[in-house]
Parts: sequence; structure tokens; C-alpha cells
Amino acid sequence: MKVVVIGASGTVGKSVVEELGKRHEIVTVGAGSGQYRADFTDIAQVRAAFEQIGKVDAVVVAAGSLHFAPLAEFTPEQFYVGLNSKLMGQVNVALVAREYLNDGGSITLTSGIVAEQPIRNGASATMVNAAVEGFVRAAAIELPRGLRINAVSPTVLEESMDSYGPFFIGFEPVAGKRVALSYVRSVDGAQTGQVYRAW
Ligand SMILES: NC(=O)c1ccc[n+]([C@@H]2O[C@H](COP(=O)([O-])OP(=O)(O)OC[C@H]3O[C@@H](n4cnc5c(N)ncnc54)[C@H](OP(=O)(O)O)[C@@H]3O)[C@@H](O)[C@H]2O)c1
Repeated sequence: MKVVVIGASGTVGKSVVEELGKRHEIVTVGAGSGQYRADFTDIAQVRAAFEQIGKVDAVVVAAGSLHFAPLAEFTPEQFYVGLNSKLMGQVNVALVAREYLNDGGSITLTSGIVAEQPIRNGASATMVNAAVEGFVRAAAIELPRGLRINAVSPTVLEESMDSYGPFFIGFEPVAGKRVALSYVRSVDGAQTGQVYRAW
């Protein structure tokens, strides 16, 4: 299969590329890295990238920024960081991928454990991750041509503990290699509308 990975150079993305790359041709995309460049918050850039890439069999997104802060200090602008990036960036990709996927192809988005297990400073993260999962469940029943869409909800990765560890006290980190298997199940499997919990 030809598989586009958006966010391929990231902590999650690198593990996903390594696992999927064992069986599939990978096309890497990032805002400032990868074989093709697209800032996924701008749907025109996403469309331009797919125009160059052409037809594909699967699209994976392992990207999306979020702002973390105490609820008492959160500003609307800070909420829009996650809404514009992790939510609408991924929705943009799904909307465009629908047109470039071969029949029976798949879209795999990324949410996160805080969708279900809130943490301090995580109001935006919980909101956005839950919205990504809601989008996936709803889009799955409307996609044409046997197209599938799922989300992977990773817990904190072992590789990210230096940066995210203090936010995730008491959470068991998981190796990127294991998280990547959930993306593999979405791409190589047959389910749709699912949230694969990589915990
Ligand atoms: N790491 C964890 O422990 C963890 C746990 C749960 C969920 N997640 C979720 O997994 C996703 C990836 O996290 P990560 O830790 O792997 O992040 P990361 O290491 O910061 O990597 C982010 C990736 O996304 C790309 N990217 C960033 N902004 C982009 C944009 N506007 N348009 C297109 N691509 C963009 C980056 O490439 P460029 O720099 O080239 O743009 C990079 O490849 C996020 O949604 C995060 O919330 C991560």
C-alpha cells in the first residue's frame, strides 16, 4: 500500500513510519520536514500536497499542537491553538484525503488518553481529543467507496517522558513501537469508526 504519514518526523510519527514501512511504501509529510510540505491548518496546502502525491491507500496523521495551562488562566486564544491545529488540522486532512484515497482506503487520526483520563492543565487537550474521536465516529458512517476512518489514542510515550512526564504523573508510559501497532491495526485492519487505545 502507499501510505501518507503526516507528522512523520515526530516522536509518534517516527515509530509509525518504522512499523508501517516494513510492509508499505511511506510518503512523509510535515510543515517543515518530509518528502512533501504542508501546514495542515491550511486546507489549501493539504490539497496542494495531495495534488502532487496523487492517489494513495492510507493516510495517517500523527501531528497536532495543544496548549496546556491551568483552567483559571486559559484564554480563548489558547483554546484555539488546539482547535485550529490538532482538531481542524486533522479534519482538513480527512476532508482532502477522502478525494485522494483509493476505494477501501483508510484515514487514521490521533487523539490521546486525556480524551478519557483528564489531567491538570489539560482542559483543551481533553476537549480537542474528544472532538477528534467524535469526528471519527461520525465521519465513518458517511464516507463513500468503502473508505474507513479510525483514531489512535496514545498514552504518553516513553520517548516523550522528558517533556510530558510531569503532566502524566502516575500514568504508565508506552514505547512508541507499541503505540505504532495501533496505527498498523487501523491501516491494515478492516474496522472503521474505532478509537484504538494505545495504553
Ligand atoms: N508524544 C506523546 O507522548 C503523545 C501522547 C499522546 C498523544 N500524542 C499526540 O500525537 C501527535 C504527535 O505528537 P508527537 O509527540 O509525535 O509530536 P512531535 O514530536 O512534536 O511531532 C509533531 C509532528 O507533526 C508535524 N507537524 C507539526 N505541526 C504541523 C503542521 N502545522 N502541519 C503539518 N505537520 C505538522 C511535525 O513536523 P514538522 O516539524 O516538519 O512540521 C512533526 O513531524 C500529537 O497530536 C500529540 O498530541 C502524543
